[in-house]
Amino acid sequence: MQGHYLLYAGSASQQLAESVATQLGAKVGKLQQRYFEDGEFHCQVEDSVRGQNIFIIQSTSKPVNDHLMELLIMLDDFRRASAASINVIMPYFGYSRQEKKSTGREPITARLVADLLTTAGASRVISVDLHNPAIQGFFTIPMDHLTAVPILAEHLKKFKNDRTVIVSPDAGRVKLADKYAALLEVPLVVLHKHRSEKGVEVRALVGEVAGRCPIIIDDMISTGGTIVQTVQTLLEAKAKPEMIVAATHGVLVGPALERLQHPAIKQVVLTDTITIPPEKQFPHLRQISMAELLARTIHHIHHNLSVSALFGSDRIQPV
Ligand code: R5P
Repeated sequence: MQGHYLLYAGSASQQLAESVATQLGAKVGKLQQRYFEDGEFHCQVEDSVRGQNIFIIQSTSKPVNDHLMELLIMLDDFRRASAASINVIMPYFGYSRQEKKSTGREPITARLVADLLTTAGASRVISVDLHNPAIQGFFTIPMDHLTAVPILAEHLKKFKNDRTVIVSPDAGRVKLADKYAALLEVPLVVLHKHRSEKGVEVRALVGEVAGRCPIIIDDMISTGGTIVQTVQTLLEAKAKPEMIVAATHGVLVGPALERLQHPAIKQVVLTDTITIPPEKQFPHLRQISMAELLARTIHHIHHNLSVSALFGSDRIQPV
């Protein structure tokens, strides 16, 4: 890319953007943002961005619709202010779980969001551990898919012993969990989950867990229903009540906090792709920051360097 780059943040990711700016030795640009009485959002970039390369950090976490609309309006603002390129860093991609029709007459919101971002002026989108990597193909602009796997795996190594197993709570997470199993060099256990109106039900368990210390992997924890059902199933199969839970995105809504404080869970490890406010933090929660990886990604994109090279010589690419 030619010229300079400027970093901006939406309201969902101010804290993460400050950490990224610190890593880069830069500052988060000034952007007036406010809501009118009727709920409409307004923003105005304070300095000229004409001909500049813009990086906006905004996760579309809860309230998803507000954060998404803020992002779209920011894009419109920068586009009309003649920015040279607008790179959207959406560490958590809200609406990504509706990425296909699972029954008739359903929307595919992940595709809709991709179209909205493109229409509003995004030149590139960067996200972390997408719910389904095929979402990359919903974009006709460049899409960089990052992963928190190496960062989280490094932390999880501290818990590894000769009884450790990695657990995928459902078939959709097998590839992700397998990456952790490979990095930690431990066996993989797979559960088959069924979600109905009554909640989450585990229908099958493949692998040996009796007397084992499970590390449960997921891409996101929303209500904690998947995790608590997984813990119960593992306990019934005689796993040790010393489990670790690790996920990239801490959506943490509804009964999640209560569920995650299950006595069999020793630690819950999450990244900061979604800001976890103080009232949602609990004693055995450990947050690992993505700031350094995002800062390096910005540096690589700005200097036209390979983004996949960020994941090292062993090429731990996102799944
Ligand atoms: C589902 O396929 C996802 O990977 C997560 O397992 C799920 O979204 C977590 O939601 P909850 O915490 O509400 O069970």
